[in-house]
Amino acid sequence: MDSVRNPYSPGAGRPPTALVGRDDHLREWDVGVERIETGRTAQPLVLYGLRGVGKTVLLSQFARRARDRSWIVARIEAGTGKSLRELLGEALHGPLADLARPSAGVRLLRGLKTALTFKASYDASGSWNFGLDLSEVGGGGADTGLLDTDLSKVIHDVADAAAEERAGLAILIDEAQDLSVEELAAMCAISHAAGQDSWAYLVALAGLPSLPRILAEAKSYSERLFSFQPIHHFDDAQATRVLTVPAADEGVEWDDEAAEYVVREAGGYPYFLQQFGQDTWNDAPGQDRIAFVDARVGVARGRAALDAGFFRARWDRATRAEQRYLRAMAIDGDQGSGSGDIAARLGRKATSLGPTRANLIGKGLVYAPEHGMIAFTVPGMADFVVRQPDF
Ligand SMILES: Nc1ncnc2c1ncn2[C@@H]1O[C@H](COP(=O)(O)OP(=O)(O)OP(=O)(O)O)[C@@H](O)[C@H]1O
Ligand SMILES: [Mg+2]
Repeated sequence: MDSVRNPYSPGAGRPPTALVGRDDHLREWDVGVERIETGRTAQPLVLYGLRGVGKTVLLSQFARRARDRSWIVARIEAGTGKSLRELLGEALHGPLADLARPSAGVRLLRGLKTALTFKASYDASGSWNFGLDLSEVGGGGADTGLLDTDLSKVIHDVADAAAEERAGLAILIDEAQDLSVEELAAMCAISHAAGQDSWAYLVALAGLPSLPRILAEAKSYSERLFSFQPIHHFDDAQATRVLTVPAADEGVEWDDEAAEYVVREAGGYPYFLQQFGQDTWNDAPGQDRIAFVDARVGVARGRAALDAGFFRARWDRATRAEQRYLRAMAIDGDQGSGSGDIAARLGRKATSLGPTRANLIGKGLVYAPEHGMIAFTVPGMADFVVRQPDF
């Protein structure tokens, strides 16, 4: 079928044509936004799940919905080698520059001035000025060098500026498990203060399934602070809609057994559904119908594409020693292994494998679901590892 019209979107953060099964999360976000606009408080959100389940796509929806209501939205991705300070400062610049005008109210001017001092805290060249003379304006002081203090100041003053415009400030942090403990603790402390004093501020963090535990280690009260939302694989009915709804929009119908086959092979995993959907579509010879035989070909091609790209890229990122560790894990399949069992399999002490384990976590290949446990971050990785030749 015409690949230009292909409605499937395997990839990282690529918005699906049909966003399936996330209504509850979207509703909770919308309610939070509306509560804040009416001067109430809302619980900050934590979205967590395996790689490829749809966390980034959901954060994009949150961002779009907040922007549609004229909120100031700072969207950032941790783990890119930049500090939270820098990421946040840069993400705030665009939305604040859009609001800056000489006729701005006193709280907006104040927020702008504080953002300038925040910028100066990590960049001595201080190249912004928003085109305004802010010398007579109050605010500032977000450049003490203390992360807690500076973040709190800039978030409070910018949220206050947003409230003056009858909106709020939304901060969306992807890959939040890669923030430092100090950065996570600061974000917790600020959300805590914001909840007590009703700041016009809402935050959503997204990350791997280890994120709730990492937050609890950063601040013990985080367990009560956040609304924790696991992002799950799809059930069969949802997975079927991921395939059939975008096709129907293009006038194409899936035969029941074709859709059932792809749903079963993808195991409800959003990324695989998009991959298999894309390959099935491209290979189907018909114009308006996808048959079982097309699905068989599509899934086979999709698996080959995953092996050559998705899994291969992860495997190649590991050193030989790390690959040996992954092989020892793969024996347990996708559900995870005890660190002690892996050490026993490799004939080593668990402590001596600590650096290998830490490097694999740093590379995003594995995560620690709980203390003493280790698991792959993508489904199907164990199976792929088992299939790799051992030299
Ligand atoms: N609700 C959804 N309905 C249909 N497809 C979806 C949905 N959410 C995500 N997808 C698809 O799944 C794939 C993965 O989505 P996304 O990149 O958001 O996952 P992620 O959880 O952020 O993964 P990672 O941890 O690797 O960043 C994309 O191809 C996306 O189009
Ligand atoms: Mg993502």
